[in-house]
Amino acid sequence: MSLRDCQAWKDAGLPLSTTSNEACKLFDATLTQYIKWTNDKSLGGIEGCLSKLKAADPNFAMGHAISNGLMLVGTGTSVKLDKDLDQAVKTMVEVSRTQTLTPREQLHVSAVEMFAEGNFPKACDLWELILRDHPTDLLALKFSHNAHFYLGLREQMRDSVARVFPFWTPSTPLNSYVKGIYAFGLMETNFYDRAEKLAKEALSIEPTDAWSVHTMAHIHEMRAEVKDGMEFMQRTEGHWKDSDMLASHNYWHWALYLIEKGEYEAALTIYDSQILPRLKASGTMLDVVNSCSMLYRLQMEGVSLGQRWQAVLPVTKKHTRDHVLLFNDAHLLMASLGARDLQTTQELMTTLQEASKSPGENCQHKLAQDVGLPLCQALVEAENGNPDRVLELLLPIRYRIVEIGGSTAQRDVFNHLLLHASINCTSSIHKNVARNLLMERDALRPNSPLTERLIRKATAVHLM
Ligand SMILES: [Fe+2]
Repeated sequence: MSLRDCQAWKDAGLPLSTTSNEACKLFDATLTQYIKWTNDKSLGGIEGCLSKLKAADPNFAMGHAISNGLMLVGTGTSVKLDKDLDQAVKTMVEVSRTQTLTPREQLHVSAVEMFAEGNFPKACDLWELILRDHPTDLLALKFSHNAHFYLGLREQMRDSVARVFPFWTPSTPLNSYVKGIYAFGLMETNFYDRAEKLAKEALSIEPTDAWSVHTMAHIHEMRAEVKDGMEFMQRTEGHWKDSDMLASHNYWHWALYLIEKGEYEAALTIYDSQILPRLKASGTMLDVVNSCSMLYRLQMEGVSLGQRWQAVLPVTKKHTRDHVLLFNDAHLLMASLGARDLQTTQELMTTLQEASKSPGENCQHKLAQDVGLPLCQALVEAENGNPDRVLELLLPIRYRIVEIGGSTAQRDVFNHLLLHASINCTSSIHKNVARNLLMERDALRPNSPLTERLIRKATAVHLM
């Protein structure tokens, strides 16, 4: 792989304020691995590249920006939780003041600083400002993509790429990956055919593009194309299983098809052999979410999970007080509820309430009162066997849950929660809620075996 040096970045219209060619190449190597969702051993992995990058030029502002940005945007941590990261963000800002940076670089530093404060919307604005003049700035594009994803801003996530897409030509490095990123936004806004065309184009150029594989998995999921989805994952597994940052999530998608079909044992086999081992090895928040989401879905389907929640709890428990993303909080809560760890559940709820009372610039803490807390409380009520209370909490906010971010497929776990509660509720106030929700789901996503099973269940108790 030819990595770009100082002159190459300048020629691309994206000059970097360093005289170190080594630093420029390591910046490129880091960016490339981030885009590919894969630590490349031949490049030294992302961490290896970042430590060499800092040694090559300690005053390289964009080196600091990509390093801090990856920690913040990529790993689900925050400066409040990680003192070293807090210091690293301060150092980045100091470095940016002592150096003569281009306006683009200055915006990158400010965007990461905003994101560190929990002000994701402002960070997005700044990355978008960069893209207005620098449509091939892939770091801005990808950070903006991820931040929009965390905010549940699906149209913005799509349009952010649409605006710059024509500037990406076959000769632009990593151009095929931009097709995959664009395809994901198209898929999340229901343009399935266009998304499929682009994702397939990306994969024809680079079959190991795990994000484009992932977009294809979503397209099959949204269309309830269970057979096609399973065949696609099976056929392509060899291409994406070594993507250390995304493989677990792609296996999660594969398992969703099996849950949809009611093949729970096969889903658990994927969980035990692929998802849990990766969670234990990485401990990343995406792998946490994959595990919790899958176990919770299986639990709602009535599957006996044995001690699986207990195996997840040691990883999730450490994050009880984090409150970086409400989406993560809801999944962490599934684990403490599943493992019947009342103290951890209580601690998560109490500290989230506290965070919501003094949110400052933090967009997630601002949203906690209206959406995050009722959602988390609904999970608690479901565990306590109060389905009517679940409905009381979730029905008023169901169209706002999107604001906690994640994908439509990921948030579907909350639709399942609502559906199961509606089938089990007893209050006459909630008469016909189950029927309405199931008819709505069937209309939106026809031919779903899971929906059909729920309809049969509802019919059996005379709710349909
Ligand atoms: Fe996904």
